[in-house]
Amino acid sequence: MKKVRKAVLPVAGLGTRVLPASKSIPKEMLPVVDRPVVQYVVDEAREAGIEHFVFVTGRAKGAIEDYFDRAFELELTLQGKNKAEVLDMLKAALPVPGSMSFVRQQAPLGLGHAIWCARDIIGDEPFAVLLPDVLVKGAPGCLAQMISAYENTGGNIIAVDNIPPEEVNKYGIIDPAARDGRLSRMRGMVEKPAIGEAPSTLKITGRYILQPEIMTLLADQASGAGGEIQLTDAMARLMKDQDFFAYEYEGEDYDCGNKLGYLRAIANFALTDPEMKDGARAVFEQALAK
Ligand code: G1P
Repeated sequence: MKKVRKAVLPVAGLGTRVLPASKSIPKEMLPVVDRPVVQYVVDEAREAGIEHFVFVTGRAKGAIEDYFDRAFELELTLQGKNKAEVLDMLKAALPVPGSMSFVRQQAPLGLGHAIWCARDIIGDEPFAVLLPDVLVKGAPGCLAQMISAYENTGGNIIAVDNIPPEEVNKYGIIDPAARDGRLSRMRGMVEKPAIGEAPSTLKITGRYILQPEIMTLLADQASGAGGEIQLTDAMARLMKDQDFFAYEYEGEDYDCGNKLGYLRAIANFALTDPEMKDGARAVFEQALAK
């Protein structure tokens, strides 16, 4: 079985739900406590053993590429001011040279199209997909849990989580068959079904391990929900030929692509940050007392 070494991070989305902030800052660069959302997602992937990151970007997303590069001027200034600790922290977060690729999705044609834009770099290896506006807090991280499961099952694995029935129209929803612990075999999946027509209440969270054959299906995938080329539709087709498993991870997810989800992430990450938690609690209590 080939190791999962590469991950695709689609970051071309416009971020319309977090405007006006996302007008000139990529939504993936919005900070949660002290680092941008995308840093948490890269850390989750690194912890899971990912060696190469493929960012599918778009116009006005250059800040992401700059963030993962060295900042010589800043480093020199910090050195001059004897800020060794901050300097070490910046250096430790730098990716291994050559371990990140950036490709552009020229038009917002959908998640499936974004993943397909990474096909040449992925080649014939299994790969992970992490949607970078979704943070998953877990120890080990969500992708690491999925990779452990994958080492036994092979095939394709999608992270899923139970949601209230009135929210099924916002997500990809899976149709589970036989269940074994956290893993279920899948019969099907559907993107953003109408309320009352969903096959289950298990939503696709935004973490995937996929076989490279998905790329061939994406090449001729017709538009689906919302008029976009959907990854969910291509996965539903691949399911006819390959094993697909849903994995109910241990942890909690935060959708930082909408205002309340973003606020939830900041509150929860601050309240568990060893250095900030006491101060953060006092801030929230004061705000609630008003
Ligand atoms: C995408 C996927 C969907 C998934 C969701 C998770 O939808 O298409 O299947 O459930 O991410 O956040 P989007 O949020 O891009 O509309």
